[in-house]
Amino acid sequence: MLPFTARRLVALAAPLALLAACSGGDAGEPAAEGTDAATTAAGEAPPIIKEREENFEAIGKAFKAIRGQLDADAPDFALIAASATDINTRAQAIPNHFPAGTSTADGFKTEALPAIWEKPEEFKAAAQKLVDESGKLASLAPGGDKAAVAAQAMAMGGACKGCHDKFRQDDEKK
Ligand code: HEC
Repeated sequence: MLPFTARRLVALAAPLALLAACSGGDAGEPAAEGTDAATTAAGEAPPIIKEREENFEAIGKAFKAIRGQLDADAPDFALIAASATDINTRAQAIPNHFPAGTSTADGFKTEALPAIWEKPEEFKAAAQKLVDESGKLASLAPGGDKAAVAAQAMAMGGACKGCHDKFRQDDEKK
């Protein structure tokens, strides 16, 4: 995996340095905002990729916690509500985590498909769907109706799958 990534980065370095020169930037300078992939291509992946992966990992953990509670005889509905709120906050950040030049086509270790940038409105809507479904789950959970909460958790899971099916590289086929 590493040698492959390194080769891609070397191949990318020349055209990206040219780009940086054209835009008047100094190719040797580190990225000011950390969101412009071009200025960091000579080094490692832009920090935003790590940031969005961590955001999704936390979303994954929160979702797992919710499912774990729903498997229990006496679910902790406060924990479900808190986890759903966490997902809700994190889902709102998703659209800001995908600056141009950070897809699978750009040589970085990422599962973000180019479709994200080809259909930006659709991607935003997919993120909004998770915002909406997690919000519903957060307000429903304190009521303690296990069947209703489980149904809404399923609906929220549908928002994950809906986005992953279109916008995330499926290289594990679980
Ligand atoms: C709007 C689209 C979208 C939604 C909604 C979404 N995801 Fe993702 N998810 C992605 C993309 C794109 C990646 C790949 C990110 C990357 O590799 O840079 C990803 C990656 C992940 C990862 C892997 C993180 C890593 O370490 O690389 C997990 C886990 C995950 N998502 C879980 C979830 C769960 C659980 C939900 C729902 C509660 C969800 N996602 C909702 C688009 C989405």
